[in-house]
Amino acid sequence: MNIRLFVIGLIAALAGLIGGIAFIPGAVDRIFATREPATTGRALVGGPFELTDHNGRRVTDKDFRGRLMLVYFGFTYCPDICPAGLQVVTAALEKLGIDTNRVVPIFITVDPERDTPEQMKQYVSSFHKTFVGLTGSKEDIAKAAKAYRVYYRKVQDESLSDYTMDHTSFLYLMDAGGQFITHFPHSISPDKLAERLAAAIEKMPAGS
Ligand code: NI
Repeated sequence: MNIRLFVIGLIAALAGLIGGIAFIPGAVDRIFATREPATTGRALVGGPFELTDHNGRRVTDKDFRGRLMLVYFGFTYCPDICPAGLQVVTAALEKLGIDTNRVVPIFITVDPERDTPEQMKQYVSSFHKTFVGLTGSKEDIAKAAKAYRVYYRKVQDESLSDYTMDHTSFLYLMDAGGQFITHFPHSISPDKLAERLAAAIEKMPAGS
């Protein structure tokens, strides 16, 4: 085959593809505008939740208004991913020092069967002292996870005596009004996370 014709054909096909994507309303926005969707007025991630904290009190998302929420979904029996993620948050908050009261780290279980308030209390006490552990009924958790677009699934592992959970492991940063700012992988470095939190604190409205 004539290589030049092939290349021209390929370029034409790519141009057609890009043109086609651009033609779909909002497609370019969805592909390229991954940052700060809150400014569009559409909350893509996050929303109301009502759960039980690690002291057994019922709380809602509104109880955390005025502070940034750093939300992570996981479960206390998680062997490595969750503890690693919560450790990163702890290290980042320690770096932030005095600004810590402007951020509330929230750990929401996807395993309410085993993660009772008492279990959550014991677990979060191994991490930063400001951590809030949240659990609830299966329905409460399903609702919160749906709002945050979090996927989770119970998995029976033959090699384990008990079940484990598959789950999304992003950290979600929400502003003082409860709107989504951005998300981070659980593998982000504490330095980078502290830097991003400091930048978000800087942008908080005065008096909040
Ligand atoms: Ni986990």
